[in-house]
Amino acid sequence: MEKIIIINNGSQYTQLIARKLREFNVYCEILPWNQAIEVTNDIKGIILSGSQYSINDPNAPTPNLDDFIGKVPILAICFGAQYIAKYYGGEFIENLTSECGNAKLKYIDNSSPIFKNIYPPKIVFITHSDTIVKIPKHFKIICSTDNEEIAGFQISKNKIYGLLFHPEHPQTEISDDIFRNFLAVCKVSYDWTPNIFIEKKINEIKEIVGNDEVIIGLSGGVDSTVTAILIQKAIGNRLHGFFIDTGLLRKNEFEDVLNSYKKMGINVKGIDAKDIFLSRLKGIIDPEEKRKIIGMTFIEIFENEAKKIKNVRWLAQGTIYTDVIESGSVNGLSKTIKSHHNVGGLPDKLNLKLLEPIRMLFKDEVRKIGSVLGIPLDILNRHPFPGPGLAVRILGEVTYEKVKLLQDVDDIYISMLKENNFYDKIWQAFAVLLPVKTVGISGDERSYDYAIAIRAINSIDGMTANAFDLPFDFLNKLANEITSKVNGVNRIVYDLSPKPPATIEWE
Ligand code: XMP
Repeated sequence: MEKIIIINNGSQYTQLIARKLREFNVYCEILPWNQAIEVTNDIKGIILSGSQYSINDPNAPTPNLDDFIGKVPILAICFGAQYIAKYYGGEFIENLTSECGNAKLKYIDNSSPIFKNIYPPKIVFITHSDTIVKIPKHFKIICSTDNEEIAGFQISKNKIYGLLFHPEHPQTEISDDIFRNFLAVCKVSYDWTPNIFIEKKINEIKEIVGNDEVIIGLSGGVDSTVTAILIQKAIGNRLHGFFIDTGLLRKNEFEDVLNSYKKMGINVKGIDAKDIFLSRLKGIIDPEEKRKIIGMTFIEIFENEAKKIKNVRWLAQGTIYTDVIESGSVNGLSKTIKSHHNVGGLPDKLNLKLLEPIRMLFKDEVRKIGSVLGIPLDILNRHPFPGPGLAVRILGEVTYEKVKLLQDVDDIYISMLKENNFYDKIWQAFAVLLPVKTVGISGDERSYDYAIAIRAINSIDGMTANAFDLPFDFLNKLANEITSKVNGVNRIVYDLSPKPPATIEWE
C-alpha cells in the first residue's frame, strides 16, 4: 500500500499530522526519528515533524536525512524545517522568548506547489524559539510573517518544503490546503478507505493464522469488537472469544453485550465470574491493589479457558494506534505510559503470538470500519470503560450492595444522557460512588446516605480532558431523578476538574 512516512521528532502534534493524512484517505505511518528508513517504491513522501527540542539542544533528535533526501518529496515542519536548514548550513538566532500562537503570513509565494491556490494574508500557528536568519543560496523563501522573513522555504531540486509554522494545527487556517498540495506533489494513492482496509486485513489474517485457533478477551467496547469481527470474517469459529462478567460491569451489560456478540456471529463464551472477583476484593480499599487483584483474576480465568481449546497459537487484542504511540515505540524519545489493552503477560505465559489487526488505526477509524462491518451503534459509540470497571468508581471497599447502587445510578445517568442527546457529544461519562455519607432529609426523617459524583468530559484521546458543559437544568433533573429513585443516595455533585491535574477516573 502506498504511504507517507512521518518521522517523529517528538512533537506533541505528530498525531495530528497522521490524522490529517488519513482524512484524505492516505495511509501513513509514524516512525521514530532514530529508525533507519529505506525508501521503497510504496513510500511516496516523507514528513519531518516538529520537536520539543530547540535546534541547538545537544539532546535534539538527529534523523538521518541522507536516507531519503532527493528520493521522495519532503515536507519539513517547524523543528524539521530548521533541521534541514541547519543540515545545509543555515544560520539561526535563539529568541529570548519562544513564539507560540497565531501569526499572519503576509507573503506567500503561490508559484510554490505547496502554496498552490493559497493567497495571503493567512493565519497560521507557530511555536518555536529559534529563528532562521540565513539560508543557503539554493533555498527559496516561500512565505514570511510580520516577524519572520524566513517562515518557509523550498529546495526545488529535491522537492523539499520547509514550514516554520504548524500546518497540522487546527488554528492554521490553510491546514487542509497545504496537505492537499503536498499529497499532490507526492502523487500518492488515496486508497486508505474502510472497505479496502477490511479486505486487506481479512486476507492478511487468513494468511498469517493459517489453520491455527485464536483467542480473544472481549470487553463490550468498540476496539475488541471490531478486532473480533475482522478475525471472525477471516477464520470463522476458529476465533474463540471470552466475555467475562467481573460483576463490575454496568447494569445488564453482560447479558446485553453477550446477546449482541451472538447476533453478530462471534463465537463467544460468557463466563460468570462475579463471585470470584467480588470475594477477592473484600476489604480492599487501595485502588492499585484493586487493579492488581482484578487484573490477576482476569488472567487466571482467561488462562483456564484458553487451556481448554486445542491448537491455540494466537492471542488477539484490540490494540489501537494511540496505544502503540503511547507505549513509546514510535516517538524514539520516551518509553512507558500504559497498555490498558494488554492482558498482562498472557502471550508469554501461554506461549502465544499476538494478533493485533487494528493497531495502525485511530479510534475514529476503528468506528468507521466498525460501521462498515455492521456493528450495532450502541457498541460503536460506547464510551470507553475501564478494565477494572465499577471497582475504580466505588471509592473504598467494593461490595455487592455498592455495585448494585452504582449500577442503578449509572443507568439513570447514561439513559438520561441518551434521551437528551448528550451521550454522543461526550467523550466519557460516568458516576462515582464516594466513600462519604452526608446528612439529608427523607420525608420527615433525617437521612444519612451516600454522595455521588457525576462526571462528563470532553477529550480527544483520554490524555487530557475538560469537564463537559452539561446544562444546569439537566443536572438538576438528574439529581432529582437519582435521589428519588435510588435508595441510599441523598447528595449529587458535579465534577468540574480538568485532566491534568485530575485524572478522568477518581481512582
Ligand atoms: P485516567 O483516569 O487515567 O483515564 O485519566 C484515562 C482513560 O483510561 C481509562 N482507564 C482505564 N482503562 N484500565 C483500563 O482499561 C484501567 O485501569 C484504567 N484506568 C483508567 C479511563 O476510563 C479513561 O478512559
